[in-house]
Amino acid sequence: MRRLVRETHIIKDDLIYPIFVAEGENIKNPIASMPGIYQYSIDRSDEILSEIKDSGISGLLIFGIPKQKDELASGAYDENGVAQQAIRYIKKKYPELLVIADVCLCEYTSHGHCGVVKDDKILNDETLPLLSKMAVSLAKAGADIIAPSDMMDGRVAAIREALDENGLTDIPIMAYSAKFASAYYSPFRDAANSAPCFGDRKTYQMDCSNGREALREISDDISEGADMVMVKPALAYLDVIKEASRFELPLAAYNVSGEYSMVKAAAEKGFIDEKRIVMENMTAIKRAGADIIITYHALDVAKWLEENI
Ligand code: PBG
Ligand code: ZN
Repeated sequence: MRRLVRETHIIKDDLIYPIFVAEGENIKNPIASMPGIYQYSIDRSDEILSEIKDSGISGLLIFGIPKQKDELASGAYDENGVAQQAIRYIKKKYPELLVIADVCLCEYTSHGHCGVVKDDKILNDETLPLLSKMAVSLAKAGADIIAPSDMMDGRVAAIREALDENGLTDIPIMAYSAKFASAYYSPFRDAANSAPCFGDRKTYQMDCSNGREALREISDDISEGADMVMVKPALAYLDVIKEASRFELPLAAYNVSGEYSMVKAAAEKGFIDEKRIVMENMTAIKRAGADIIITYHALDVAKWLEENI
């Protein structure tokens, strides 16, 4: 009877799994702060790609980890950059997999910030052309969706214009619209080698106190041309997800690295029941109003769904 009256259902279609692709060969690096998550080089990536394909989830979100970094993040918009090569490989070998490409400079800049830096300041407008070039090159490599996560103002409009000018009119933008300056990202920064080497991201990511500002960021991105919007992190921001579900666009929630690692660490210690906690968290995110859940638990969730709990 509970199944009959249940209001919220998690299905595989809701789920997106993030992957880290490292430049180089024969790499399968465990991320110490994210048990079960690895960086893969392209030549070792079949292991994870075939698992994603067989799991039946909707797709993946790709982050590139370059060998070289510089001030202007040139690896981010290099036609033969690591993410571009990986996307070409995936779309050739696994054409049925939906590939979402994260667009941000921080994995590619020597200083680790998401934008161009001058005199220790992050320059918003100078960053926009670089993000646009990155988006175009990832879409040309075959990305199905472009997902800017940098939080520069005006980047959705700039990227939309650049995609259109390059004939990529049918590539949608999933905007990380309400992305908070969160301590929950620290395991990711180990995974993507992207910690800022000075300061923090508070001049471009949002203050965690501000719910109304989040809605303004979302409506700005929608008027600039976003096709899907995102709230990030997820669990500490369920109120924002709930409010954001009033916008009539697909809404994604990113269940981020720190949220994942807390569950994994507590489960390893035997403090909690991992499967029940994860399914409860997924249900909470969906109940709050998310249509799409980006989560490092996605492959486990897909397995547990088969068990029909
Ligand atoms: C890059 C980016 C970050 C995340 C996604 N894209 C890190 C950051 O802003 O420092 C975080 C993802 C996670 O914690 O799982 N801008
Ligand atoms: Zn960034």
